[in-house]
Amino acid sequence: PSDTSALVAEIDRLRRERNAVILAHSYQIPEIQDLADFVGDSLGLSRQAATTDAEVIVFCGVHFMAETAAILSPDKTVLLPDLEAGCSLAASITADQLRAWKAEHPGAVVVSYVNTTAEVKAESDYCCTSANAVDIVRSIPEDQEILFLPDLFLGEWVRRATGRDNIHLWLGECHVHAGIMAEDVERAREAHPDAELLVHPECACGSRCLLDLQAGRLDSRRTHVLSTEGMVRHAAASDAGSFLVATETGVLHRLRRLAPGKQFYPVREAAVCNYMKMITLEKVYRSLRDMVYPITVPPEIAERARVAIDRMIAVGR
Ligand code: 13P
Ligand code: SF4
Repeated sequence: PSDTSALVAEIDRLRRERNAVILAHSYQIPEIQDLADFVGDSLGLSRQAATTDAEVIVFCGVHFMAETAAILSPDKTVLLPDLEAGCSLAASITADQLRAWKAEHPGAVVVSYVNTTAEVKAESDYCCTSANAVDIVRSIPEDQEILFLPDLFLGEWVRRATGRDNIHLWLGECHVHAGIMAEDVERAREAHPDAELLVHPECACGSRCLLDLQAGRLDSRRTHVLSTEGMVRHAAASDAGSFLVATETGVLHRLRRLAPGKQFYPVREAAVCNYMKMITLEKVYRSLRDMVYPITVPPEIAERARVAIDRMIAVGR
């Protein structure tokens, strides 16, 4: 199809024909978000993948998310429209590296952020997302040593939020969120002094915000460390009229759509995930037409990873 509306019409026809559901992360381009059956954060998308009765899941997100969907729905066909859609954070630790780290800390419980490969999840006791990382860690006995991976900034934030010092951190980072610094927040605050601040815990500025909150230097009614879905929920419910948003800028489309009367400003305009933006309408169309690219996980890996993922899905909103 040559124009956008014809392409969308073809996608609609094919998704009905294939009995497919289109899931999209909040960092996807606006056209994909508008087309999706469900838009959400990593936790919400995992829950959708686990419960959908569609036969095909077209995953508009990145590779580890499609893998998680394939583990949760082994009898469904999970398609990722572009195999190059990876994640710098998930790439920061391999299963071999994790096995070596575990050997250095025998008896430690492994908590892995969902942004990891299926092989890494298979070596983990718990998975978590940014929406439930603190709750998952709190559910583990306080005297239990924890290996938290792969995100250093999320890990620092969890450490500070739970007050635990027996959490060892892997030094991985997401190249997008690691670029969102305390100085960016300061600049944005000066430009929009009345706006509330919403910060994703993967940001380099996240644990500093929590430190400032705990020390009373930031107003806890106006500063919130949240997952992408937490931001959407908060912005819709809050009385505030404007918000500074510290995360990948794709979420702004979602926020503006759900809270049309409010103002949203990115803390860092350049915070764009090139992997998330690889999924286009053309690729979704091709994905449904040619049934590409199926994502599968070997059963012995999937079985072990599933235990950790089920624990993640069970905890928090
Ligand atoms: P959430 O959707 O869980 O907030 O995570 C953000 C992210 O970076 C996903 O790649
Ligand atoms: Fe990975 Fe960062 Fe992109 Fe999320 S924003 S998919 S963590 S590289």
